[in-house]
Amino acid sequence: MKFFIDTANLEQIKQAEDLGVLDGVTTNPSLMAKEGITGQENILKHYVNICNSVSGDVSAEVIAVDFEGIVKEGEALAELHPQIVVKVPMIPEGIKAIRYFSNKGIKTNCTLIFSSGQALLAAKAGATYVSPFIGRLDDISQDGIFLIEEIRHIYDNYAFETEILAASVRHPMHIINCAKVGADVMTGPLSAIIALSKHPLTDSGLEKFLADHKKGN
Ligand code: E4P
Repeated sequence: MKFFIDTANLEQIKQAEDLGVLDGVTTNPSLMAKEGITGQENILKHYVNICNSVSGDVSAEVIAVDFEGIVKEGEALAELHPQIVVKVPMIPEGIKAIRYFSNKGIKTNCTLIFSSGQALLAAKAGATYVSPFIGRLDDISQDGIFLIEEIRHIYDNYAFETEILAASVRHPMHIINCAKVGADVMTGPLSAIIALSKHPLTDSGLEKFLADHKKGN
C-alpha cells in the first residue's frame, strides 16, 4: 500500500519524506488555507515547492466547478510540474473533465467520494485515483472502511486500473483496516503514520535492553 501525506505543511512533508516511507502528497483548498497560502501565484509556487520536496505524485485541487473552468485550471496545474495530479470534485462537470484529462494523459484524483456509485463513475471516466473520505463517513456513523471494501470488490470485478486512495484517514487503525481490505493508497496526517510505530511493549523492551547493556559495561 502506498503512503501519501495529507498536508500542505512543508516541514511535515519533509519529516515524512525523511522516514523513507512516503509515496506522495495530497492537498486541498482547506489545507492550503491552513498554512496561510493565499493568492493564485503563491498557491502555484507552493505546489512546485511540495513537488520539489518529494518524489511521488502531488494532488493539486481545482477550484472551478464548470467543465471549461476545470479544464483550464487543471491544464495549468499539470504544466507546473510532472508530479502534479489534478484533483477534481465528484460532480458531473468533474466527470466530463476527468474523461478529457484522461484522454490527454493527465493524471487525476477524483475527490469527495462518499459512495461506491461515485467511485464506479470516476473509474469509468478514467480517473487515476478515487478518494473516498473514510473519516468523514465515520463522523456521520457510516462505515468508511466498508466503502473501501465495496469499491475494491467492484474495481476487481472489472479490472479497473483506477487506484483506491483512502482519504480523510484520522488514526493508525484506519491505515491498518485500509490495508486489510486492499486500498491501493492511504493519505493521512503525519501523526497517524508515526503512530503505526508505537507500542508500549516496544518502549519498555527497549528501555530494559538499554539498561541491561549499561549494567554489563
Ligand atoms: C483528501 O484528499 C482530503 O485532502 C482529505 O483526506 C480530507 O480529510 P479530512 O476529512 O480530515 O479533512
